Amino acid sequence: MKVPAHIAAIMDGNGRWARRRGLPRAIGHREGVKALHEAVQVCGDIGVKYLTVFTFSTENWQRPKKEVDTLMNLMARAIDDERPGLMENNVRVRTIGRTSDLPEHVRTRLESLIADTASNTGLTFILAINYGGRAEILDACKKAGEQGIPESEQDFASLLYDRSLPDPDLLIRTGGDRRISNFLLWQLAYTELHFTDTLWPDFRKDKLLAAIEEFSKRQRRFGRI
Ligand code: IPE
Ligand code: IPE
Ligand code: MG
Repeated sequence: MKVPAHIAAIMDGNGRWARRRGLPRAIGHREGVKALHEAVQVCGDIGVKYLTVFTFSTENWQRPKKEVDTLMNLMARAIDDERPGLMENNVRVRTIGRTSDLPEHVRTRLESLIADTASNTGLTFILAINYGGRAEILDACKKAGEQGIPESEQDFASLLYDRSLPDPDLLIRTGGDRRISNFLLWQLAYTELHFTDTLWPDFRKDKLLAAIEEFSKRQRRFGRI
């Protein structure tokens, strides 16, 4: 099986997972963290180099304050809970997004997790938090205004949030919708897309491996014949 070097995931469907069980949406988000824990483990085990997950979009601030608070608190708690395991599994954590606008208790935890895992050499795990593809392109243009107009696509890409990331090979979106929702607009130009109706909390090891298996059979042409 050909393993993609970089997998990106839009982890959608937590709310519906809970609603179908008559539970509060917060429980769906909590289950979503468990699925994410498993995805990190699987990706590390099979030799994926980069896993980028969409955890909170620039548009998600428009949700009710109670839900936004729940998501922020859950992120803070997950960072505390997952830190030892991430260290043990040699995972390097990074973020993309306008992280400076996050609540202080989330931002400081993220900063310390990034610092603590910086020299780990296994899976690079990128959290897209307060991330928007358009915001990223706009922020890159602002940098270009200070540093000079980029000459090439490569020069432009170096102005994005993390210049060291290769483009994703495979994008997975759970939850049944066939859209990008402002994720990685520049980087997805030639990414293979995998949409599934499975809700994120149910997207466990077997489903992830099946998506990778299916990816490995695809023929990527990049405009050639
Ligand atoms: C994904 O699940 C998590 C975030 C967007 C933060 P949703 O909360 O969007 O769940 P649904 O789409 O309402 O089911
Ligand atoms: C995309 O999910 C963002 C994240 C998973 C963080 P949404 O639930 O916000 O997307 P839409 O609103 O259905 O497009
Ligand atoms: Mg959703």
